[in-house]
Amino acid sequence: MGMYAPGYYLDLKTLAEVRGIPFEKFRSGLGQQEMAVTPPDEDAVTMGAAAALEALEGIPPASIDTIMFATESGIDQSKAAALYLHRLIGLSPTCKAFELKQACCSSTMALLMATSLVKDSPDRRVLVVASDVARYDTASPGEPTQGAGAIAFLVSADPRLLVLDTAVGSHTEDVMDFWRPNYRETACVDGKYSIRVYLHTLGKSWKRYEKAGGYPFEDINYFCYHLPFTNMGSKAHASLAKIAGHDHLAPRALRRAVLPGLIYNRRIGNTYTASLYLSLLSLLDHAPPGLAGGRVALFSYGSGSMGAFFSGRVMPSYRRQLDPRRHKRILSRRIQLTIEAYHDMRDYALPCDGSTIKTPRCTTGPFRLAGIAEHKRIYESTATANVTPDVLRHGLSGRVCAV
Ligand code: CAA
Repeated sequence: MGMYAPGYYLDLKTLAEVRGIPFEKFRSGLGQQEMAVTPPDEDAVTMGAAAALEALEGIPPASIDTIMFATESGIDQSKAAALYLHRLIGLSPTCKAFELKQACCSSTMALLMATSLVKDSPDRRVLVVASDVARYDTASPGEPTQGAGAIAFLVSADPRLLVLDTAVGSHTEDVMDFWRPNYRETACVDGKYSIRVYLHTLGKSWKRYEKAGGYPFEDINYFCYHLPFTNMGSKAHASLAKIAGHDHLAPRALRRAVLPGLIYNRRIGNTYTASLYLSLLSLLDHAPPGLAGGRVALFSYGSGSMGAFFSGRVMPSYRRQLDPRRHKRILSRRIQLTIEAYHDMRDYALPCDGSTIKTPRCTTGPFRLAGIAEHKRIYESTATANVTPDVLRHGLSGRVCAV
C-alpha cells in the first residue's frame, strides 16, 4: 500500500474563526482537525502517481498486469487518468489501464474486480489507485469536510497485508444525496439526508454480508468505514452494533474497534475514493501488536448510492510491509496555510479555452501538473522540473502563504 497527501493544509481552527463557528463543532462534532489543500500543480493524477510509487517499491513495474484508477475528480471525459500514471510510473505497454466511477465506492469496485482477475489467473498483479480532491462551496456546511489525497494498493495471490474473505454484502439504490454535475467544481450535497442514506446502506450491506456467510460481529476485531468526516465512523459503528444486537456497546469497546482507523483521516479530511483505504492504513500503522492475524471489516459507501461490506484477515507479518514513519512524515512536514492562501489555492483556475499556461511550482510531491497547452495537461516528475518554488515566499497572489 502507498499513500500521498498534499504538502499544504488548513487548520480547522483557522476556518472556524473566520466563519464564526465554534471550533468544537469541527473538532468534536465532526471529528476533524485539519484538511489537506491541493496547490495549483497537483490533482488526482499527480497524487495517485505519488501513492503508486510507494505501493510499487521493490516491485518491478513490468510485472503489473492492470492498473485501475478510481476517482470522482476525473480530469477528462474520455481519456482515463490511469493512462497518465502508466507513463509517470513506468508501466509496461502490456499493462491494461482504465478509470472507474461510482462516487467514493469505485475503489472498492476496483478491488473486487481485481480480486476476480487474480482468482482467474493467480500470476496477475493488479494496481488499484484511489485519488480525489473533495471540495464543497465556500462557507457551506460541507466546507470543513473537504480534503485531498490518494491511496494505491496491489492486489495479488500472495497478499502481504490483508487476505480478503469471500463474503461481500452490497446495496444499491438510485438516490440524490451527493453529486457533482460536469459543469461544477464543487459537489452538490443534501448533507443530513446523505448521512441517513449512508446508515441505511450500511444496514442493508451488513445483512447481506451475514447472509453470504460473513463473520459474526463479535469475531471482528477492528472496523474501518468510509469517512467523509471521522465522526461518521463512530456513528456508523454504533448503528451497526445495534443492528448486530449489541445495543449497549460500551464507548470503550466502540473506540477500541474504530479509533486507530481515524487518525490519518482526521488530519487529511475526506479523500472520497481513498477514504476507506486511508482508514485501513491508519489502522495498520496505529493498532496495537494484537492486530496481526486479527479480522478487519470494511464498509465502503459511495453516494448516489452504493455500499459494500466485506472483511479480511491481517497477515501475521504485515508490519514488515509498511513504513508508518514515512506516513507520519508526510503529515508532519506539511505547510500550514493562512486563510488567504487557502482561498488563493481554491480559486486558482486552469484555462478552459485552450490557452497555454505554466502552473506555479508549489508541490512538495514527486510529480506535478506543469501546465496546459492546446487543451493538453502536461505532467512531469519534480526531479526534472526546473521552476523556482517561490509560492512559499510570496503566495499565489503576493500574499503571505504559510502560517
Ligand atoms: N460543539 C460540539 N459539537 C457540536 C457543536 C459544538 N459547538 N455544534 C454542533 N455540534 C455537533 C452536532 O451536534 C452534530 O453532531 P451529531 O451529528 O453527532 O449530532 C455535528 O456537530 C454536526 O453538526 P450539524 O449536524 O449541525 O452540522 P451541519 O449541518 O453543519 O452539517 C454535515 C454536517 C451534514 C456532515 C455537513 O458537513 C456536510 O454536508 N458534509 C458533506 C456531506 C457528507 O459528508 N455526508 C456524509 C455522508 S455521504 C458520504 O459519505 C459520501 C461522501 O464522502 C461525501
